Amino acid sequence: MKILLAGGAGYIGSHTALSLLNSGHEVVVVDNYDNSSPESIKRVEQLTGRSVTLYEDDVKDKVRMLKIMQKEQPDCVIHFAGLKAVGESVQQPVRYYRNNIDTTLTLLECMAETGCKEIVFSSSATVYGAENSSPCHEGMPRGICTNPYGWTKSMMEQILQDASVADKELSVVLLRYFNPIGAHESGRIGEDPQGIPNNLMPYVSQVAVGKREKLTIFGDDYDTPDGTCLRDYIHVMDLAEGHVKAVEFCAHHHGTEIINLGTGQPYSVLDIVNTFQQVNDVKVAYEIGPRRAGDLPAVYSDVHKAERVLGWRAKRTLADMCRDSWNWQKNNPNGYKK
Ligand code: NAD
Ligand code: UFG
Repeated sequence: MKILLAGGAGYIGSHTALSLLNSGHEVVVVDNYDNSSPESIKRVEQLTGRSVTLYEDDVKDKVRMLKIMQKEQPDCVIHFAGLKAVGESVQQPVRYYRNNIDTTLTLLECMAETGCKEIVFSSSATVYGAENSSPCHEGMPRGICTNPYGWTKSMMEQILQDASVADKELSVVLLRYFNPIGAHESGRIGEDPQGIPNNLMPYVSQVAVGKREKLTIFGDDYDTPDGTCLRDYIHVMDLAEGHVKAVEFCAHHHGTEIINLGTGQPYSVLDIVNTFQQVNDVKVAYEIGPRRAGDLPAVYSDVHKAERVLGWRAKRTLADMCRDSWNWQKNNPNGYKK
């Protein structure tokens, strides 16, 4: 199959491109490098020995997207193109709504005009909100989001669902990711956050490599076994392989299917820090700080539907995730920059 990856040069997109190529699919990437660089795709080509058709374009630009879709005629689109920093979305809500919603609408319009009927969407566990308790399963109603980023995901899910009600030939898979971490085992591609990382694993790696002084753990007084928050961390290569299954499923399906991609196994912040230190034999200095606004004590997935519908389950361990994150960080201390 030929798959168009909107936002495919980013963290999850580049790993998915690699898995798709290794599964024999063709890959077209459209990215404006708002939060990435073409270097990730160059490395994917080196790792796979396959070539990727790459367009530097804004997915919101309908004139350009239509030309690309007409020329490439993809069988399926995967929509990764989005802004994703929760705190920034509170400061710049209009930019987040404009980018995330517009990319989705443009892709749907271009698909309709070129006859493409399959779309896989990068959603997030954040849409479960605080109302649903973990393990989160796909039958639960979406909850109240605490930030504009979360609302964009919730709204985009609704838009895609509505589109599949109106067009009975449309096949939509909404993938709700839990907490993707890790990197390809080669250490050649990985997560390359700009500026100070918001998320735990890149922060831990940057402390270990000496770029940051210490990690602040946001609260140790939650009602959890060690007092720190529980999350469902998933290796990005497991996530990438989940996308290959989702794309193949999408080809034989109509309507909307919501699927969690997680491991179902919660780990605490201290589990991450301790495992990272142990597996990699490095020190991660940390202090306990106050809680971060909006954090929930425990968020993890029910994984049965992914197993049943996609025949997929995460295989890699927390030790694998910590080892591969470190392998990427120590070999690329400045990310994709030289
Ligand atoms: P990322 O920032 O590394 O990748 C997103 C890519 O989209 C980047 O390459 C960026 O340049 C591109 N992009 C953004 N707006 C664009 C536009 N208008 N036109 C063209 N390209 C555009 O992020 P990621 O971690 O790879 O996440 C991919 C998707 O998964 C995002 O939609 C994100 O919200 C979602 N998601 C991520 C996580 C996570 O923890 N990483 C969790 C849940 C959901
Ligand atoms: N944490 C720290 N210190 C840090 C960073 C994070 O203690 O410097 C803690 C957080 O408090 C949380 C855990 O580490 O308990 C994980 O935090 P992340 O920011 O890595 O991930 P979140 O679970 O907060 O958020 C992630 C994605 C969001 C998505 C959300 C859905 O980043 O995009 O999951 O649950 F919306």
